[in-house]
Amino acid sequence: MSEPYDAIFYDATHRGSAGDVEFYAALCDGAQSVLELGCGSGRVLSAVVPSGATGVGVDLHEGLLALARARTPTLGTDAAPALSYRRGDMRTLALGRRFDRVLIPYSGLFCLADAAELLACLDTAAAHLAPGGLLALDAYAADGFHHLASQEDMGKLDEWAELDAVEIDGAAFTVHERSRWDREAQTIEAHYRYVGPGGRVYEAALPQRYVLAEELMLASMRAGLEPSALWGGFDQRPFDPEASEHMVFVATHASPAGG
Ligand SMILES: C[S@@+](CC[C@H](N)C(=O)[O-])C[C@H]1O[C@@H](n2cnc3c(N)ncnc32)[C@H](O)[C@@H]1O
Repeated sequence: MSEPYDAIFYDATHRGSAGDVEFYAALCDGAQSVLELGCGSGRVLSAVVPSGATGVGVDLHEGLLALARARTPTLGTDAAPALSYRRGDMRTLALGRRFDRVLIPYSGLFCLADAAELLACLDTAAAHLAPGGLLALDAYAADGFHHLASQEDMGKLDEWAELDAVEIDGAAFTVHERSRWDREAQTIEAHYRYVGPGGRVYEAALPQRYVLAEELMLASMRAGLEPSALWGGFDQRPFDPEASEHMVFVATHASPAGG
């Protein structure tokens, strides 16, 4: 996500998917250490790190990191906080330590510009995953519309549609969304317009490159990971390329030593 999307506006609108926090919390049960790549305002990490474990959240967006820090209760000690947030790039991060769980929730992978960046991110995830650890991520499922949607559907996305109503700093805003879809490039350029009191308007763009299920499987294997689950939702229903709205993916290291 490019920095200009104001953290308060972003955070008010992008609130996660039903069941995601519960899913990641169950997955992190028993873990001693959790790394979240693209942690945003800490929505997931702050809720899923088990008591007594440590969590590190990494993001490029200083404003979202500031929100995460402001919302984090002081756990652990000042010298060794249980939860910490730091600026870093999921394509190049090298923390020099490994984690029992590496999470990339809520379509974080779709912030990456191309297949090379996707692979770099999965390499990063593998390099930070402890032997026996789990990588887990979720994203909206794109296979269905990528293969099946018509030109007419593509056109409809281009029109402003009211998406949400949010309160920001005590003021009520309606949120409108319009997207430009490029099937060949696998990109969706989403635009958001917030209309508030007195005609106040705030606009932001959110470019995404979506990843198809097979591409995710192949890229994760190239990164030395072994896919262990691909579900179509947080309730662990099977992934259906034509009908699933979500893609929930779990992987381990391909070699038991954590290669
Ligand atoms: C869709 S949001 C998900 C936020 C959070 N994981 C959640 O579930 O609410 C994706 C996040 O990834 C961050 N991001 C995008 N590209 C990144 C990169 N190359 N390295 C680290 N973070 C990145 C964005 O700033 C944004 O906070």
